[in-house]
Amino acid sequence: MKHNLNIKSMKLYNHVDRIYNEIKELGKINSEPLIVEEITSFDQLHYYGTEAVDFAINKINIDSNMTILEIGSGIGGPARYIANKTGATVIALELQSDQNEIAIDLTERCGLSKKVKHVCGDFLTYDWEGKKFDAIVSWLTLYHIFENKILLKKCFDALRYGGFFYAEDLLSRKPFSEKELSELLENIYGNYLPDIQTYKSEIEKVGFTLIFCQDMSNEWTKFTRNRYLSYNKQKNRHIRVHGEIIYNSINSFYSFIDHYFSNGKLGGIRVIAKKIST
Ligand SMILES: C[S@@+](CC[C@H](N)C(=O)[O-])C[C@H]1O[C@@H](n2cnc3c(N)ncnc32)[C@H](O)[C@@H]1O
Repeated sequence: MKHNLNIKSMKLYNHVDRIYNEIKELGKINSEPLIVEEITSFDQLHYYGTEAVDFAINKINIDSNMTILEIGSGIGGPARYIANKTGATVIALELQSDQNEIAIDLTERCGLSKKVKHVCGDFLTYDWEGKKFDAIVSWLTLYHIFENKILLKKCFDALRYGGFFYAEDLLSRKPFSEKELSELLENIYGNYLPDIQTYKSEIEKVGFTLIFCQDMSNEWTKFTRNRYLSYNKQKNRHIRVHGEIIYNSINSFYSFIDHYFSNGKLGGIRVIAKKIST
């Protein structure tokens, strides 16, 4: 669908420096060193936090000899967690410069700058100059990218033979109306939300071999419902820490997502594919 919207129409991507309010709440002053585990409860912008990242680490067997590319690294939560836990080198690619700047700062404060390299850019146009990765991973990012075929081809080409593609992503469980599609575009910048069969077959079409696939819809419906309810329950706390404008903005984002999961239309997938053809 052709449109003039920008990714910042998604409220989660406004006030991204709100993470510093949480860090202050921990009693840390600016530039004070941090440890990765202290900030994982608010630097993971996907579902089930580090549990989901652990799942990927274990399934792909990420270790210190590997170089991993994360597409859409946000403020760097998953990239830092992977590097810290496994010793792997992570190239963390993020489209939005404000998030990328925060990611650089947090990674430095966690003492991980040697292992996590933050890069600001668009995966669709970024030139890796022939570099091949051991795995390409992404959480809640690929649905933003309309040009899915180009995206998958670029992933395939940027992986070494035997490399892994891992994605946790949104999709549709039931067809969306035109009105719903435009709401999804505006509120979550949803550009690519196919059904699960289409999602899988597009991955296979570029040459990947699917080795794992899980429909996450029910689990994510639970997660997003609890997230919304618990954010509401702690309204006073969040207003004290972040102020009313941020509270209202995040609350309305969480409410929107909860609505679309619980009406059975929005769903999710966790998929792993391997490059075993050339
Ligand atoms: C929901 S956030 C998830 C961030 C991170 N993966 C996490 O789980 O904490 C998705 C991120 O993907 C980024 N993104 C979207 N399209 C992108 C592209 N074409 N290239 C690089 N990053 C992109 C967005 O800017 C956003 O920060």
